[in-house]
Amino acid sequence: MKCRVCGAQANIRLPQYNSALCAGDFIAFFEKRVSGTITKYGLLSEQDRALVAVSGGKDSLSLWHLLDRLGFSADGIYIDLGIKEYSHISLVKTRQMADRLHRRLYSFSFSEAFSKGVKELARMMKRPPCSLCGTIKRYVMNRACTDYGYSVLATGHNLDDEASALLGNMLHWKEEYLWKKGVVLEAERGLAKKVKPFFLCSEKEAAAYALLNNIDYIYDECPYSLGAKTLLYKSLLNRVEDVSPATKIAFLKGYLKRAKAEGSRGQEQEEKGSCSVCGYPSYGEQCNFCRLMTKFGSGPAVRFDVYVPSEP
Ligand code: AMP
Ligand code: FES
Ligand code: ZN
Repeated sequence: MKCRVCGAQANIRLPQYNSALCAGDFIAFFEKRVSGTITKYGLLSEQDRALVAVSGGKDSLSLWHLLDRLGFSADGIYIDLGIKEYSHISLVKTRQMADRLHRRLYSFSFSEAFSKGVKELARMMKRPPCSLCGTIKRYVMNRACTDYGYSVLATGHNLDDEASALLGNMLHWKEEYLWKKGVVLEAERGLAKKVKPFFLCSEKEAAAYALLNNIDYIYDECPYSLGAKTLLYKSLLNRVEDVSPATKIAFLKGYLKRAKAEGSRGQEQEEKGSCSVCGYPSYGEQCNFCRLMTKFGSGPAVRFDVYVPSEP
């Protein structure tokens, strides 16, 4: 197998592009593709101050590294879920990348804020861990952007994450979510712009990019994050992809085209108010986060630790 660009021994096969590339050409190819997505969908501009949500996994650490390589100004935010060993190792990996890029890393700790990890908090609130975790993560990431003046929040969601979530929403006709997934969610009152630069890049590509750039990431997934159904949808899509390469990309590109029309229609119907406690957009009197905090019996104090690496 030869590299399609230089003819040397190829290191990675990319059947979805009918190609195979050596290490150096793959890195250049991947960076160009992500840069193309950023430009095509207007995700980031040179004036933006971006915050990358880094979990310690391959996608988000590769994204932080890549945005830095492309010359964007991007700091990181890590949410420590208080899951013993897993959260500790994840924090170490995110700090390593902050040191490597000489960028700030904000962190929010469940144990500090709630004196409990996500599992214990979820049990107390009688909610599934990942649903509670999702509410808190979304709120806290947005707060970091608004408190510290970042215009864009970037996450490492990849093609496989998005295609499996889309398939799940379609199979169950979850219309309330169906048209809300996109490569970009524009800023609204109280909400920072959110972007997914890896929307059209597969998990395998992100892992290869991490490996070839010596990015040290945590291999384990959060023990509560992936439901059996998500894994099933991912493996079903992979089986289709094996037989018919590029199906996942075509699935998401087709979705983006249709979502453009549907999304703008959907937004006209939604009139949100503001949370009476914190001002965050909300359908009820209080936002989900403040309602949760009221139940928990504490105010909505959201405190970040700021890690500033030493100068090179
Ligand atoms: P997941 O929902 O775990 O597949 O994660 C999707 C994306 O959300 C990751 O690529 C990160 O950008 C972000 N993310 C997930 N967990 C965390 C975390 N604990 N701290 C910061 N960002 C996170
Ligand atoms: Fe949500 Fe683990 S509990 S990612
Ligand atoms: Zn609120």
